[in-house]
Amino acid sequence: MDALNVTQFGKWTVDEKLALSRMALVYKVRKNGSSRKAVLKTPCSLLEKDLAFFRRECEITGELGISRYFPRFIEASTVAPPYYLVMNNIPGVSFRTHFLSCQERSLLKNEFAFQIKALYGAAIALEKMHEGGFIHNDIKLGNFIRKPRGRVILFDFGIARRGKLSIQGGREILIYEEHSPTVRGTPLYMAPELYSSKEYNKHVMYSSLADVWSFGITSYLIFSGISPFRDDSISCLSHSIRSDTPKSIPSLDKKVMHLIYTALEKQRKNRPTMRELRQELGSRMDEFGINYMQ
Ligand SMILES: Nc1ncnc2c1ncn2[C@@H]1O[C@H](COP(=O)(O)OP(=O)(O)O)[C@@H](O)[C@H]1O
Ligand SMILES: [Mg+2]
Repeated sequence: MDALNVTQFGKWTVDEKLALSRMALVYKVRKNGSSRKAVLKTPCSLLEKDLAFFRRECEITGELGISRYFPRFIEASTVAPPYYLVMNNIPGVSFRTHFLSCQERSLLKNEFAFQIKALYGAAIALEKMHEGGFIHNDIKLGNFIRKPRGRVILFDFGIARRGKLSIQGGREILIYEEHSPTVRGTPLYMAPELYSSKEYNKHVMYSSLADVWSFGITSYLIFSGISPFRDDSISCLSHSIRSDTPKSIPSLDKKVMHLIYTALEKQRKNRPTMRELRQELGSRMDEFGINYMQ
């Protein structure tokens, strides 16, 4: 079956293709006989290991979907083809469009208050995900949507995992160990420890603190629009992530820059948790007299 040309999934009719990645196809759909719109995600491959990822994504969306910081789960077909996951359609604009598109950057979107409020909204959503017991593993601009009134939604649980709770230095951390991982996240956003294993292809330790690192990269991109590491090739990027200190962003408030640096600590144990980071960000906003209304 060629999922690209399918126009019907159960009682859902395809209106428009939204995205195609190496793992999934995403469509805007309508429920037959009604005008109800939704978003449907279907896996690109029917291999057992890829279906395992997809089924996990459906489960996590089901669990988190009751909270207002994530897409609402509508239904899923995971036992027999066609496989699909249906969620509510989140109205709004992706962080990628807000902060990387040159056109948008030249408008009010590069104003500090807008940037820091969006970042705070994203911090709340990721903190909630960690509180729910999950590691996202693919935190990046493209996986946050800012709704028209400002609330930020975190989505795409394609490689998310339920973490094991561990107390380290009195702080709650989620960890997940995997042997022979097939996907690790998006290279530009991946934490140094996800690259540095001597047995690169054999073993990896994901954690909520690796999400914090990716959140640091997301923050850096929001305020600067440029990559903090040299990304001409994957080997160059991997080396730069493990050894370079990103340049400070000239126009950015020093305390906010410092906060981003704490998220980008090379040693995982030196990074704040998402709760600590969100609280710090809140204090900075208080100092600037910026209110976050959701
Ligand atoms: N619930 C949703 N509401 C609105 N748009 C969505 C929703 N889910 C996904 N999208 C859109 O589809 C794109 C791809 O979805 P995503 O879940 O990130 O899949 P991928 O695994 O391909 O990255 C997103 O960048 C976003 O533009
Ligand atoms: Mg995505």
